[in-house]
Amino acid sequence: MVNEFEIKKQICDIGKRIYNRGMVANNDGNISVKISDNEFLCTPTGVSKGFMTPEFICKVDRDGKVLQANAGFKPSSEIKMHMRVYKERPDVKSVVHAHPMYATAFAIAGIPLTQPIMPEAVIALGCVPIAKYGTPSTNEIPDAVSEYVQYFDAVLLENHGALTFSDSLLSAYNKMESVEFYAQLLYLSRQLGGPKELSDSQVQRLYEIRRQFGMTGKHPANLCPNNKEGKPSCHNCGGSCASKGGCASGASEELVKNITAKVIKELGL
Ligand code: 13P
Repeated sequence: MVNEFEIKKQICDIGKRIYNRGMVANNDGNISVKISDNEFLCTPTGVSKGFMTPEFICKVDRDGKVLQANAGFKPSSEIKMHMRVYKERPDVKSVVHAHPMYATAFAIAGIPLTQPIMPEAVIALGCVPIAKYGTPSTNEIPDAVSEYVQYFDAVLLENHGALTFSDSLLSAYNKMESVEFYAQLLYLSRQLGGPKELSDSQVQRLYEIRRQFGMTGKHPANLCPNNKEGKPSCHNCGGSCASKGGCASGASEELVKNITAKVIKELGL
């Protein structure tokens, strides 16, 4: 049985962290948590996420319709974006949206975070693609994010910000921190003459570590190694097919191959 009040307090704490770390300005950003198949807690629209108290938090159903909200509060204007992630990624329990300075600068410049520059970023995120620009609050953003949602737990939103999701609120927030730290290091190393990138084999070793740790979520390391050898592969195996000697995917081999090729091409892997 989930303690809703406790989760509301946690959302307020994460809101404070996002605000205090300068990952949002003004009333920007939004946070949601799945508490059952058809119940989600989310931040209200138009308030500073740094000064929320539990009574601010709204409850919506899987279509984003209000189940409970105190007078004066309405769910985030970006609730459709959150709901699309939950719909398409049943493993996700929390979604965080913010506008961290460096990650958003990359999103504005149209530069995805693809350079392998430090082990932690490679293991935690792999790379971070950019979902094409959409007008906030419309279905354009959910549609754009949907392209990447099966392969990553973090995406930049073109000319807008960043979106992270995971199996807990803290983990979704931590991914946002990792995205911003990665973007900041990438920016600074570019000022210092350009990063010295990790080699392909160093990256593959880090991916293998991620697979061995059985880390949850979606990540480029999940792109099945079998694919590289021209064998059937899938995105659902979490990379475990490397050790189990094959993927058990219901998806058609052709479809999976096409999607894999598209993602690898887009990421320049
Ligand atoms: P809300 O206050 O409606 O959640 O919107 C903030 C935001 O950052 C929109 O992108």
